[in-house]
Amino acid sequence: CGIVGYIGKADAATVLINGLRRLEYRGYDSAGLAILDNDRVLVSKSPGKVAKLNDRAHADWSPELFSRASTGIAHTRWATHGPPTEVNAHPHLDQSEDIALVHNGIIENYRSLRARLEGKGHHFYSETDTEVLAHLIGDCDKGDLFQAVCDALHQVNGTFGIAVLSAQEPGKIITARRGSPIVIGVGDGETIIASDASAIVAHTQRVIYLDDNDIAIVTADSVDIRDLNNVPVTREIAELGLDTAAAEKGGYEHFMLKEIHEQPDSLANAIRGRLDFDLGSAVLSGMGTSPRELAEISRVVLIGCGTSLHAGLVGEYAFEDLADIHAEVQQAAEFRYRNPIIANRDLVVAISQSGETADTLAAVREAIQKGAFVMSLCNVVGSTIARETGRGVYLHAGPEISVASTKAFTCQVAVLLMMALKLGRGRRFSREDGYKLAREIESIPELVARVITQDARIARIAEDYAKNEHAFFIGRGPMYPVALEGALKLKEISYIHAEGYHAAELKHGPIALLEQGTPIIALAVDIPGKDKTLGNVEECRARGARILGIVTEGDHETAECMDDYITIPRCHPLVATIPAVVALQLFSYHVARIRGCEIDQPRNLAKSVTVE
Ligand code: G6P
Repeated sequence: CGIVGYIGKADAATVLINGLRRLEYRGYDSAGLAILDNDRVLVSKSPGKVAKLNDRAHADWSPELFSRASTGIAHTRWATHGPPTEVNAHPHLDQSEDIALVHNGIIENYRSLRARLEGKGHHFYSETDTEVLAHLIGDCDKGDLFQAVCDALHQVNGTFGIAVLSAQEPGKIITARRGSPIVIGVGDGETIIASDASAIVAHTQRVIYLDDNDIAIVTADSVDIRDLNNVPVTREIAELGLDTAAAEKGGYEHFMLKEIHEQPDSLANAIRGRLDFDLGSAVLSGMGTSPRELAEISRVVLIGCGTSLHAGLVGEYAFEDLADIHAEVQQAAEFRYRNPIIANRDLVVAISQSGETADTLAAVREAIQKGAFVMSLCNVVGSTIARETGRGVYLHAGPEISVASTKAFTCQVAVLLMMALKLGRGRRFSREDGYKLAREIESIPELVARVITQDARIARIAEDYAKNEHAFFIGRGPMYPVALEGALKLKEISYIHAEGYHAAELKHGPIALLEQGTPIIALAVDIPGKDKTLGNVEECRARGARILGIVTEGDHETAECMDDYITIPRCHPLVATIPAVVALQLFSYHVARIRGCEIDQPRNLAKSVTVE
């Protein structure tokens, strides 16, 4: 979900709606805003996307009202409690209808709080936990909104990022966080509150990140931050360093296509300055460890969710193959519930594009508490996971707007390869081997650019696969996680039922699903194990499957085994995961486009899932 709040001189409703547009990738099943006008709270909400809210607000309110209201809060929702209806959309009001609240996160004890408030005569319209918090704040309000919010938050369990305003106290917005991010943009005579900085860049580059349990009183020209016990705290102002153009489509039909095409640049940014050809190693100062500490690492545990989890799976192969270090991947959501065994020479690497995913953050906290040596691989600078781990490597992929992750994944893999190279030097890797691999990593942007030149051809191939309702992706070795990621991309944006399997596993069950014409997308890149994968391809063909192969340039024999094929340049088997996944990103994109899907905002998904 996304939050925006504004207090200043401008037309608040327009600022808020524009801010919501920038946050829409975080959830988009309903949206709403509340503004203050002549000491009244006015609310406009709508199911569906922000464009619908814009129409609704213009129907609800006159142009004069738009231009005079200069304080407001807004929200775009990814439903957790209750379906995405108008009544469940935020903002929610308290019993007096003077206080409005927008909220990200989950109030876990909302049922008991609701029952207690109902006992006191409160009436609820929605099924949401957020409305309960709005009423609770109203119930605590004895003439001081700040104190009321503190008192209410002391009574809730769960997570929140909130913004609150009251008709009784115009000229201020109260905002607070626990487990769900809040950033405050400090402008010139205006202050913007948001759940992430992309809603702020159009106004100012100067921001303050709230920490957990911070609560701030925000006016047009001041930000006063306390803890929940009313003790003042100091938070520094940071410079964003983001430009607005990065968050525009730049002539592409979709953000996803733009981000796929950006990969030669984003990968160059992720790699730049991080390879040392003299030492045959990588320079990743963010890892922040002495060579001795690195030499002592005995196990690497990689954690993440979704696409980031798949990057971790490639990393697992990289750490074992390149650095001779035992590596394993754990789904972040499972990590803290399964008594993770952490020894003091273990390195835990948390992988997260947004740096805000609740499951990954919870796993990071668990690992830190268990005394692990934790570092992060995040894209969003200043994100919670990046800040809480304190050490790590930023991806420098630039803002990723499309819900389906593309450039973040390839940059994650590139950084993991560099981490494995760094750990591998001094263990398994000679300087010469390190040098060769460093040169291969350096060439990744060029390898990816060569795949992208096949865009039009891939679009033609996609025509033949867009009518199917099922697809299976197979691979082995480092191409196995690529198969998983390829299937995830296809299902996310085209709604085709797609599964990724280890090529050898297909015959142990999934092969029963093959029918005449069922698509098999085979990662048949020329790396060790290819011949065995080709054997599996033949097993599928014998059962009527149609085969799309990802094959190595010049490997005509393999290409001939396929009904259709896309090539990637010849390179190191681990490096090859990156161009191979780019081929599958383009394939999924075109299939979804042909099927007329909403590519940048697929149904039911959100870019950043800040609930467990
Ligand atoms: C959501 C997104 C996925 C993403 C996952 C992890 O489910 O839809 O695309 O891979 O979260 O996000 P993170 O920001 O932690 O990488």
